[in-house]
Amino acid sequence: MELLHHIKSIRKALKKARQEGKTIGFVPTMGNLHNAHLALVTQAQALCDVVVVSIFVNRMQFGLNEDWDKYPRTLEQDSQKLRGVGCDYLFCPEESEVYPNGMDAQTRVIVPSMAKVLCGASRPGHFEGVTTVVSKLFNIVQPDIAVFGIKDYQQLAIIRRMVEDLCMPVELVAGEIVREADGLAMSSRNGFITADERPRANQLNRSLNWIKSKIESGERDFLRLEAEAKAQMSEAGFRADYVSVCNGKTLEPAAADDLNLCVLGAMYTQSARLIDNVSLTLGEA
Ligand code: PAJ
Repeated sequence: MELLHHIKSIRKALKKARQEGKTIGFVPTMGNLHNAHLALVTQAQALCDVVVVSIFVNRMQFGLNEDWDKYPRTLEQDSQKLRGVGCDYLFCPEESEVYPNGMDAQTRVIVPSMAKVLCGASRPGHFEGVTTVVSKLFNIVQPDIAVFGIKDYQQLAIIRRMVEDLCMPVELVAGEIVREADGLAMSSRNGFITADERPRANQLNRSLNWIKSKIESGERDFLRLEAEAKAQMSEAGFRADYVSVCNGKTLEPAAADDLNLCVLGAMYTQSARLIDNVSLTLGEA
């Protein structure tokens, strides 16, 4: 695996691969890699000749009082893990190269629909930071396919919309949610969960699955289910940020006759904000 820090050098390496007729798969990340990230790399490898992973802790998508400075930076371990799964290129740019004119002056990519609800409501500007950096990374890497995890369901939906609206020549591939044995979705932020909280930290997943099973058995009062799920989290000692039964495509609150649903939630532990979701299809699939 080649570790590259500069836009010029990754472009040069990939130009050669493309000239040799190779297809390029891309997995953007913020590092502190775990098995879910590696599963995305393996998925990209199955579809493409050359796989590029990027690690960039993108300050633009963090709020002022969020955990950008605390976000774990573990390049040495990350590169070892990527070598272990046979990744071809690891691209780790400096902030000064990604935002050469500063972040305030940076041209931005805004997806107006879906970006202000759910996580976007609690994290103003977050998705604008995501779509801006992902557009830049797509322009740098010019991948044939890019793999994103379903764990960040809203992020994937917004990126899909961006690719469609801006006619970006990349195929998006979704990676299943990878979980710990007790259902907790893997996340770089799980390291912030205290030992005391950890046995209960799967409550978010348990509550989302509880809603799913209620809907599957005919319950349609989504607001009641959402309120009950939040109460479950608070009984477990956590604070729910939001729980929402949504239309799986538009992310608008689900209508009683919607068939493709996604139940999304976010929950605060003492020092982390965790997100998760479960999808369900009703009626004839
Ligand atoms: P990051 O949180 O590092 O996630 C990188 C990719 O891994 C995303 O596509 C995310 O959905 C996926 N992922 C993380 N945990 C997962 C899990 N448990 N199961 C499945 N997939 C999982 O998401 C970002 O970085 C950034 O916003 C980024 C897209 C890189 C833009 O900065």
